[in-house]
Amino acid sequence: MKRKGILLAGGTGTRLWPLTRAVSKQLLPLYDKPMVYYPLSVLMLSGIREILLISTPQDLPIFRNLLGDGQSFGISLSYAEQPKPEGLAQAYQIGAPFIGTAPSCLILGDNFFYGAELGKLLTSANSREKGATIFAYQVADPSSYGVLTFDSQNRITSIEEKPAQPKSHWANCGLYFYDGRAVQFARTLKPSARGELEITDLSRCYLQDNSLHGEKFGRGSAWLDTGTAEGLLQAAQFVQTLQTRTGLLIGSPEEVAFRHGWIDARQLLALADAIGQNSYAQALRQIASDSR
Ligand code: G1P
Repeated sequence: MKRKGILLAGGTGTRLWPLTRAVSKQLLPLYDKPMVYYPLSVLMLSGIREILLISTPQDLPIFRNLLGDGQSFGISLSYAEQPKPEGLAQAYQIGAPFIGTAPSCLILGDNFFYGAELGKLLTSANSREKGATIFAYQVADPSSYGVLTFDSQNRITSIEEKPAQPKSHWANCGLYFYDGRAVQFARTLKPSARGELEITDLSRCYLQDNSLHGEKFGRGSAWLDTGTAEGLLQAAQFVQTLQTRTGLLIGSPEEVAFRHGWIDARQLLALADAIGQNSYAQALRQIASDSR
């Protein structure tokens, strides 16, 4: 069965107020494209083409207006509402009719990933049929994340949500590959002390089942926080620095669709023309002409 994707773009974004009073943060710009383009590109990079976007009732029409049915990116996009931010694992209750018993990948709409090894790690996680794959990134202060510990053979030994005293520096990134049991496991979850269905608890079901795999992102990778004004600016500057230097795009669904062969050069050029005259469109035109 083909893996399906869930992009969760809800939440309150209170750390970014007043920026996020009117729209959810995944619609804010991260340099030259909406933030949601980056996680969408990650799902697509993994080879996932059937994607459910979950957001608040207020923002869902804006996402729909922005991304449509996904056809222009060679994917199929559908939409579902999360009326209240009651936890990331709730995506598997809301998304149950969409996922069914298919393997899936959940990505959080504000997570930014970059790195040479990314494509390889994603493809390998996508091809693992049994169990779950989650990702870890070393951060100086992990206390605001899920925190993972590993044994000497890099097997996950524990997973804790926002511990006051973290047992390691390995933060759990907002990217989760689960096998076809995720919906079933999600039904057994109870709200945590903060009143949310925790994704950490869903991953723990796999840990107890002895089928939770952990992948560590190496030093050459970046997993950035876009949840504060400083973090958002730093991520934007990171993208601007690399894109300007290389002329290559980061987080472009148009480019990923083209590289996978889901759209052809003519369709890519049409997308560039619809954007008009700017550096983003120019980079897309360059990609189309380099391929000839
Ligand atoms: C959530 C998860 C946490 C994970 C983080 C990654 O945190 O609960 O385990 O490390 O996303 O971004 P939250 O967004 O609820 O603070």
